[in-house]
Amino acid sequence: MANIVITGAARGIALELVKLHASAGDLVYALARDLSKADALNALASGSGGKVSVHACDVGDDASVRAAAGQVSDSVDILYNVAGVTGTVTPELESTDWAVFDDALNIMLKGPLRVLNAFLPHLQAGSKIINISSQLAASTWPYGGFYGYVAAKAGLNRLMRSVALDLKDKGIIIGLIHPGWVQTDMGGAGADITPVESATGVKKLAEGWTLEHSGDFYKWNGEAHPW
Ligand SMILES: NC(=O)c1ccc[n+]([C@@H]2O[C@H](COP(=O)([O-])OP(=O)(O)OC[C@H]3O[C@@H](n4cnc5c(N)ncnc54)[C@H](OP(=O)(O)O)[C@@H]3O)[C@@H](O)[C@H]2O)c1
Repeated sequence: MANIVITGAARGIALELVKLHASAGDLVYALARDLSKADALNALASGSGGKVSVHACDVGDDASVRAAAGQVSDSVDILYNVAGVTGTVTPELESTDWAVFDDALNIMLKGPLRVLNAFLPHLQAGSKIINISSQLAASTWPYGGFYGYVAAKAGLNRLMRSVALDLKDKGIIIGLIHPGWVQTDMGGAGADITPVESATGVKKLAEGWTLEHSGDFYKWNGEAHPW
């Protein structure tokens, strides 16, 4: 049995990770921004026989993240940084909606570091921090637009590469995963794969990640992702 922490767990890929880990017998701390809107997660926790506990955590807010970490009494085996927002889709060449842009950076770039800061005391040799990145982080992504999103995810990748180097001596492992184009609220109904397919691949990769590959970037299906 492993101890698992998952951010953004109210819906989407994170909710599927909660389900998969709980059904594998793991103890899951499911963190969600607004518990009053997390009906599916709350129902899952109620029927989990204590395997899943739900905790308020806005990854954009230091006090909220610290409070959530304070509710976790165990050491953590896998910490998944999943919470994310789309931001503005169309190119912002003449003016930028800074509130939306800053929100994307705060949630998807600063958020995972904020969560790492708060949970570091719960991590030990062999613990893993698995960050859900995106193919839009890579220099190979062939389209424009999504300025806040690409800035946040590309920054996340490079930031976590540095964190991987800084935590290597402690034996703490960092992973970066593009989860596929997934049929969630973010990915839309026309996306390539289901949340179950994505989360199944992400969980398998996370569980097998070794220190030798700390800081590397993979696709949900186990292929290396270009930078
Ligand atoms: N879907 C795709 O095709 C795709 C592709 C590549 C990468 N990704 C990445 O995969 C991750 C999950 O995406 P998804 O498709 O599952 O998206 P989703 O269905 O839109 O779910 C996003 C989740 O993030 C949470 N969230 C947003 N801001 C938050 C905050 N400040 N604090 C805590 N939680 C917050 C949302 O909570 P609320 O309900 O409170 O809003 C929600 O639970 C994201 O990082 C995304 O960038 C997705």
